[in-house]
Amino acid sequence: MSEVYTEIEHLMNELRTLEPKTPAELEALRIKFLGSKGVLKDLFAQMKEIDASARKEFGARVNELKQFAEERIQLWRESVQEEVKIDAQMDLTAPGVGLQFGNRHPVQIVKQEIISIFERIGFQVAEGPEIEDDWHNFTALNTPEDHPARDMQDTFYLPGDRLLRTHTSPVQIRVMENHEPPIRIITPGRVYRNETISARAHCTFHQVEGLYIAENVSFAQLKQTLLYFARQMFGKDAKIRLRPSYFPFTEPSAELDVYCFICKGKGCSVCKGTGWLEIGGCGMVDPAVLSNVKLDANRYSGFAFGMGIERITMLKFGINDIRLFYENDIRFLSQFKS
Ligand code: PHE
Repeated sequence: MSEVYTEIEHLMNELRTLEPKTPAELEALRIKFLGSKGVLKDLFAQMKEIDASARKEFGARVNELKQFAEERIQLWRESVQEEVKIDAQMDLTAPGVGLQFGNRHPVQIVKQEIISIFERIGFQVAEGPEIEDDWHNFTALNTPEDHPARDMQDTFYLPGDRLLRTHTSPVQIRVMENHEPPIRIITPGRVYRNETISARAHCTFHQVEGLYIAENVSFAQLKQTLLYFARQMFGKDAKIRLRPSYFPFTEPSAELDVYCFICKGKGCSVCKGTGWLEIGGCGMVDPAVLSNVKLDANRYSGFAFGMGIERITMLKFGINDIRLFYENDIRFLSQFKS
């Protein structure tokens, strides 16, 4: 009797320690334990030869073994099957799935291009705060509080003497207040205006301002600088046009147009048949501005210009809605490679 119990114990141990690796190994074990000629069948067959007194215990032990065998086989089945599933998916010769890289925002791509164009002719990048005070954004730029030109810019005012800068021109003031000429800077950055959002206007956008202050700076130099920029940015055939305009901080002032590089000046839907596209403003720095920053207006003169980066980006890439820049739609953004 004890012999058969030792055998049962031995089989229990086998079930505890064996780990079939393949479906074939598992099937062999199943047949060994539960098959029609398996060990359990054999044990149950021995039942009737056993004394009635010992039968109950024997039956319990054999049942225990059977239950345990079924349990283990079920467990093995799950793990072996899982491995098979993974194996079927794993083709080691298949090419890897590439990582998706981010890329620069189109406005940043064009901003970097503008910076590098001006750096090549000696302009340095200067930056200033987006939260400005009235002095730097308006008053020092020859726009005192009651000046009608303040209406040109829809300003977001903050509590106290603070506001969100409406242009990058206040950076000019900050640099001139702290540096002696010659000054040759460009100031790219974000600006804010309380405008109704539409396909053409947004409450936040980017400008790049240029400023050159030295002795004997002329309007001809301004014109040549802008022409150089247009040729670098829009192609060697690019032309520019300056239209008389008004800004409080420049005199004389002009609106800057570049020829429509899409139709090469012939007239198309983008330039509305005119052959020209407006990209910014410019002019000779008003002597009153130089005096405001304590520079000698008799000794120094200078030119300044300001351009909209979104505007240039839209023209360059043929984008017709400024809102696309701020929606963070990956389908839009991923089209621009830098
Ligand atoms: N600051 C002006 C604007 O926003 C642009 C400008 C800059 C004009 C410099 C002239 C000179 O609209």
